[in-house]
Amino acid sequence: MQDKIELDNVSHHFDTGHERIELFHGLSCVIRADTTLAIVGPSGAGKSSLLSIAAGLEKPVGGAVRFTIDGAEVDALMMRASSGFIFQQFHLMPELDAIGNLALPLRLKGRRDAFDIAASWLEKVGLKDRAQHRPHQLSGGEQQRIAVARAFVTGPRFIFADEPTGNLDMRTSDVVAGLMFDCARETGCGLVIVTHSSTLAKRADATLMLENGKMRAAA
Ligand SMILES: Nc1ncnc2c1ncn2[C@@H]1O[C@H](COP(=O)(O)OP(=O)(O)OP(=O)(O)O)[C@@H](O)[C@H]1O
Ligand SMILES: [Mg+2]
Repeated sequence: MQDKIELDNVSHHFDTGHERIELFHGLSCVIRADTTLAIVGPSGAGKSSLLSIAAGLEKPVGGAVRFTIDGAEVDALMMRASSGFIFQQFHLMPELDAIGNLALPLRLKGRRDAFDIAASWLEKVGLKDRAQHRPHQLSGGEQQRIAVARAFVTGPRFIFADEPTGNLDMRTSDVVAGLMFDCARETGCGLVIVTHSSTLAKRADATLMLENGKMRAAA
């Protein structure tokens, strides 16, 4: 059964004490694991907030979000456990080496073969010879390749990426984007990417534009 996320009439705002920041209202869409989706739009439109809501990290103020994994509706906690995350700022553990960073999510799940699986992902992202290097010994692009592998290492159903190439030059962005899309398609995992890069958005099967509190399909 198809894994999916359904947003039904979703609204969100933040109250900052003296003012209300309205992000969006009446958003409805279905995000399926067999497609790749880019979310674009101006800064402050609410893209990161929408990604958090779609991933079950945040609850919307209004409307409903339904997560379906293996044909059954699951709660936000289960959805999060079935997801991988990639951020603009890599967020690797500075005290762990490359293979240690990859093994960590597997060790947290109690996998005895954590380091074997980590090693195979390290090879997949072309960094086998950097296993013992810590993040500060790696370039930004190399760190992000580790972060991509870390997101996939537990076999998630969805990957959520927020500006994954925002800190990288064009060539490196292309390498990281290629990896993300290849891994998603090979593993049948859904991929939702928030990006300001039209080059990156063009790689996705579909693009949604979030602007002025509304969402629409974009070319
Ligand atoms: N926890 C919060 N409390 C109060 N306001 C918030 C909070 N998180 C986000 N906001 C506000 O909500 C609006 C949308 O933020 P969000 O980060 O979702 O935008 P974005 O589209 O991802 O922008 P960017 O492209 O700059 O990353 C912004 O005005 C932001 O300041
Ligand atoms: Mg953002």
